[in-house]
Amino acid sequence: MAVQRTFSIIKPDATERNLTGAVNAVIEKAGLRIIGQRRIQMTQAQAERFYGVHSERPFFGELVAFMTSGPVVVQVLEGENAVAAYREVMGATNPAEAADGTIRKLFAKSIGENTVHGSDSEENAAIEIEQFFTEADIAG
Ligand code: CMP
Repeated sequence: MAVQRTFSIIKPDATERNLTGAVNAVIEKAGLRIIGQRRIQMTQAQAERFYGVHSERPFFGELVAFMTSGPVVVQVLEGENAVAAYREVMGATNPAEAADGTIRKLFAKSIGENTVHGSDSEENAAIEIEQFFTEADIAG
């Protein structure tokens, strides 16, 4: 297995409840290393671009409104097989279906307010990282 990078967002439902450190503890316990991290207020344009693939979905407006409703923490994670490893640590999109011990089982409020985002492929991870980080912001 190769060392990979993946992109993560700690979403407004988590920052609002002061859970950044609690989420990061689960990430680090899983063996992933946080090699880039920034707390930002996402703009409407950033959220619409980031979730562009979902623009035709009925929940798109709600998703963009939620992601701009408060601060988020954007992150670059590194580790063995990081894309799949982080998806396992996050748990299912719908917290009702998430396995015990996963971030979404522990913290998510609903399918929309589900605490974290993680890239679904190495290719998308690179695209997503590039939207929020330059190499100068990342130290592995
Ligand atoms: P994320 O991994 O950030 O990628 C797309 C997001 O859309 C997903 O997490 C959910 O938060 C959100 N989402 C998916 N399905 C729904 C839904 N039915 N209603 C509201 N939001 C949704």
